[in-house]
Amino acid sequence: MQKGAIKITKAATSKLASTDFNNLPFGKLFTDHMLIAEYKNGTWGDPEIVPYGPLSFDPSLISIHYGQSIFEGIKAFRMKDGSAAIFRPEENLKRFNKSAHRMAMPDVPAFHFIEGMKQLLTLEDKWIPDAYDHALYIRPFMFASDEVIGVAPSSKYLFMIILSPVGPYFSNPLKIYVEEQFVRAAPGGVGYAKTAGNYAASLYPARLAREKGFDQVLWMDATEHKYVQECGAMNVFFVMDGKVITPELSSGTILDGITRKSILHLAKSMGKTVEEREISIDELVEGYKKGTLTEAFGAGTAVTVSKIETLQYKDTQILMDAANMPVADLLKKTMTAMRDGTAPDPDGWMVKTNA
Ligand SMILES: Cc1ncc(COP(=O)(O)O)c(C=O)c1O
Repeated sequence: MQKGAIKITKAATSKLASTDFNNLPFGKLFTDHMLIAEYKNGTWGDPEIVPYGPLSFDPSLISIHYGQSIFEGIKAFRMKDGSAAIFRPEENLKRFNKSAHRMAMPDVPAFHFIEGMKQLLTLEDKWIPDAYDHALYIRPFMFASDEVIGVAPSSKYLFMIILSPVGPYFSNPLKIYVEEQFVRAAPGGVGYAKTAGNYAASLYPARLAREKGFDQVLWMDATEHKYVQECGAMNVFFVMDGKVITPELSSGTILDGITRKSILHLAKSMGKTVEEREISIDELVEGYKKGTLTEAFGAGTAVTVSKIETLQYKDTQILMDAANMPVADLLKKTMTAMRDGTAPDPDGWMVKTNA
């Protein structure tokens, strides 16, 4: 990685003192600075840290019209010793560049992504909350910035990082609607990429599910509508016959979650049997009826681990006992303790900022 200080232009005023850290609506408040870098003529310019604020573009901005846009979601945590650390940012960089590749966008250098993030977090250190289930959410993103109408890869891109102090995403166990009509991703598509259009396409089915009283939909495979995929911004896990199971990724239709891979690793190291495989909804219904399906939960950066108490499939309601999910509880406790520095971090997942 290239070394060096990133040029900083400081904001004239700070919003810090007027921010209520006891009441942080998810994703609505942003810190005082952001990082920005431009790609043009086949090369990346130096990243810069500037005051957080609006951008200005022509109405023909190509990413608005054709959706050539990708992003990541990462969290930085306040450790018990007062330092701050980012959870597995190298994994997000890898996934970001995988998304970039699929969307015909340039790779972002590690210096811009990792060192840029660290230097931005160092400047914004006081924004990292110090409370249970709170974090500074890091949103790196890249979008096509040619101002031209026409379906073709852009010649210019902007890479940016913005930061948002956040509390818990969901406070209650989730009610999930098993979606049979609408599909999130098909083999050969862009399901594994964290690209804007995947989220746009999910909004209408999610709204219909919310109108029926559910928090999220559980997507099924595009071909048979039979195999479980993932939820809104979470991968899904089940405990069946004492085994921790989650859908496998080979179809390319599911996001390769960093929380998912961390949970698989932790569950294995706790001595659990772990399976990544196809999971049919019929298998879950049968396990529920037999009493072998004991836990269901979602896993993602925003939610960490979020228990599922209802799965509605056609006329069948799988009703789980969220108060009795020891595996989900242990995984959440272990992840939380690692993130605040009170549990060992044997694999070096917590990357200290420079502050
Ligand atoms: C569609 C989708 N699936 C799964 C996840 C979980 O991934 P991660 O654990 O890397 O946050 C996310 C969130 O990023 C997501 O948007």
